[in-house]
Amino acid sequence: MCGIVGFAGNSPAVEVLLDGLSKLEYRGYDSAGIAVMDGNEIKMRKMKGRIADLTKKLESDPVAPAPIGIGHTRWATHGKPNDVNSHPHMSGDGRFAVVHNGIIENYASIKEDLIAQGVQFASETDTEVIAHLLEKNYTGDILETVRNTARQLEGSYALGVLCTEHPDRIIAVRKASPLIVGLGEGENFIASDIPAVLSRTRKIHHLNDNELVELTKDGVRIFSEELQPIEKPVETVTWDVRAAEKDGWPHFMIKEIMEQPTALHDTISPRIADGEIVLDGLSLTKKDLEETSRIYIVACGSAYHVGIVAKYFIEKVARVPVEVDLASEFRYRAPMVDDKTLVIIISQSGETADTLAALKEAKSMGGRILSIVNVVGSSIANESDDVLYTWAGPEIAVATTKAYSTQLAMMYLIGTYIAKTLGRIDDATYRALLADIRKLPEQVKEVIEKNNDFIKKLAEQFSYIEHAYYIGRNLDYAVAMEASLKLKEVSYVHSEAYAAGELKHGTISLIEEGTLVVALASHMPLLEKTISNIKEVKSRGAIVLTIAQEGATAVEDCSDYILNIPATHELLAPSLQVVPMQMLGYYMAIARGCDVDKPRNLAKSVTVE
Ligand code: G6P
Repeated sequence: MCGIVGFAGNSPAVEVLLDGLSKLEYRGYDSAGIAVMDGNEIKMRKMKGRIADLTKKLESDPVAPAPIGIGHTRWATHGKPNDVNSHPHMSGDGRFAVVHNGIIENYASIKEDLIAQGVQFASETDTEVIAHLLEKNYTGDILETVRNTARQLEGSYALGVLCTEHPDRIIAVRKASPLIVGLGEGENFIASDIPAVLSRTRKIHHLNDNELVELTKDGVRIFSEELQPIEKPVETVTWDVRAAEKDGWPHFMIKEIMEQPTALHDTISPRIADGEIVLDGLSLTKKDLEETSRIYIVACGSAYHVGIVAKYFIEKVARVPVEVDLASEFRYRAPMVDDKTLVIIISQSGETADTLAALKEAKSMGGRILSIVNVVGSSIANESDDVLYTWAGPEIAVATTKAYSTQLAMMYLIGTYIAKTLGRIDDATYRALLADIRKLPEQVKEVIEKNNDFIKKLAEQFSYIEHAYYIGRNLDYAVAMEASLKLKEVSYVHSEAYAAGELKHGTISLIEEGTLVVALASHMPLLEKTISNIKEVKSRGAIVLTIAQEGATAVEDCSDYILNIPATHELLAPSLQVVPMQMLGYYMAIARGCDVDKPRNLAKSVTVE
């Protein structure tokens, strides 16, 4: 979703802003713009299109090399992507420029009031009301003006504001949309995410809801909503700058697929010590778990798919009832959460608006919140009773790969831990699971190395297809959902995931000569039944690509192509199956000439509901 960068320093702001915005491209956007403070005047350039388009525009129509400015990439919500709706937005008197990430839910009534007062609007955006409100509310004290304006807004926002009366500073404020502060030498920044500032500083502050920032080149002051100064510890970003760059790979998606062995190792190994699972910082006691009557897993997108694998896993090993919900549905369906409910929230970014809102809803109902998050200090992490971090490192490609894999590993650890704590698992199974969880990083590496060339060839061969069906039973079905999403989101091939046994209740009518069916057949207890389903589609002309554990020879006879994964505990196969499925999605997208890291209409961090 929208990206914000603000800079106050000694070098020309435009270059710094464009560089910062380019590091936020992964968030997904359709327009871009900048505003700089040229003396006592704000100069703005903005347009529909990519940052490269804006850069060209700035070459032919440059702004002054001013050292202070704000920039924005827009992912359209209110009003279509066009030049006028792009950010920044200016107040009618030209005194204020504002960039915004989020949604102002009460913008329509504010706009109506302002129009009644004679204010003229240029755009269809919700954001423009903020610029006009700033003008109306201006008291001479810029901080107070921004605070008073923010108080009139309902919804979510991270704002960066320039004001001609205070040309040496940027004011920023956030509520339910991410914003960080970067602290440099003689230069300071605001940004939606760390990669935007990483080439210039590793020192940052995370901001909490309703906190305001006053930023000049010489310093950063943070205030509470009551405008009381706040002292915050300086955080140092420890990950390598290269982690947020392609580092020689053609795309972030393939780089991140290849990083999975390391990400899995980093997530799993600190959690197993002396043959036992150690969940750092988990305050849930044995008594809490004994009193837990049910678990809700709540998430969006691929994180929701992790939840489905986790449901099969936890119910099988720990015998605790688990419900999995899409965050956008959970909140509005009167979920039965009470103080005996454990709510597990899964989110890579920790900022997904629906997931955050579902968390708050569950918390207000008395649920105990455990979150699995990749971004340290994110809103979801801050709001939870317990947080377990996946150590995947920054994930930039819109289509998640290493975050999914590490979330899955984390859920295996949690499920096994709950089973052990509640005495629902025998020692031999516990040891066998732990031993095989430990092997996952190495086995994922093997899967990648053995299958890379073959999958690339398969993708080239099938690049013409427009439809694909993914089938599987039980855990295989759970992986089929993620596998299908991986294909459709980056390659734009229409694909669907079906529980293999359900196919004949309707969808099998779509199978005809040459239809591609990807069969996930690694769940050994149901292998025979899955084979029957493969035969059903095969006899109707489908081309079948099967993913099976090594040695499952029975599937070979009924499949056209086989992808093998190494043998593992039957409940852990999803971790190995998903990897070739990610690779198939990636290589199909390449073969079809798609923009893999920035698929159309998608955003990495979905900060609007
Ligand atoms: C977007 C991303 C998905 C992700 C989902 C949830 O749709 O493109 O890859 O799974 O949001 O995001 P989260 O950050 O909460 O895991």
